[in-house]
Amino acid sequence: MRILVTAGPTREYFDDVRYLSNASSGRMGYAIVAAAIARGWEVVLVSGPVELAPPVGCEYHPVVTTAQMRDAAVRLFPDCDGVIAAAAVCDYKPKERIQGKMSKSGGPVTFDMIETDDVLAELGRCKENRWVVGFALEAQNPRENALQKLRKKNCDWIVLNGPEAIGAESNSVEFINAETDTVAHWTGTKTEVASALIDWLAEHATS
Ligand code: CTP
Repeated sequence: MRILVTAGPTREYFDDVRYLSNASSGRMGYAIVAAAIARGWEVVLVSGPVELAPPVGCEYHPVVTTAQMRDAAVRLFPDCDGVIAAAAVCDYKPKERIQGKMSKSGGPVTFDMIETDDVLAELGRCKENRWVVGFALEAQNPRENALQKLRKKNCDWIVLNGPEAIGAESNSVEFINAETDTVAHWTGTKTEVASALIDWLAEHATS
């Protein structure tokens, strides 16, 4: 098995020094990479900026912005059997990036923000016979919202977790298939949850 994993946050720049991002540590995605390598799988990791070293043995593609993550993922996906999209991608970016460093104006500032590319949705659209696992981070109506994402992004499975997962050591997730059945619940350290996910996919995912 050869898989693509997206992990970590992305950044969207207002000017050359200031950016919008989130508190994702990349731990869940990196634990998935390590678990897959431990199973003997080949892993292509497309990662936003994190403090973690890429797991030994993976093919590592560092990126910063969502557009870079999208370009790398779309280019690398055709050579893989499936993708696990664990990245915490910025949903919005400033419409224009200011050159250099913006000076204070002495008053409030307003930025026009536009949506970024949806990396997972794009992989879902071009998946053909490859399998696709998405993550859903939900604060309200978790199951309903996760199912909407699963359908909209053409996923085969979705891992539902909550905002308490961000930056944490452990996680508690529900794993849902395209028929909307909950096929597993996993709770534990991110390493344990990642191993359980990879074990499950080893048994059930085919491309
Ligand atoms: N995702 C992505 N590209 C984006 C946004 C999200 O690839 N621009 C992926 C994430 O990696 C995750 C899934 O889509 O696998 C769902 O991410 P999530 O942040 O829960 O949902 P969003 O689609 O961003 O929707 P919202 O923020 O409105 O809940």
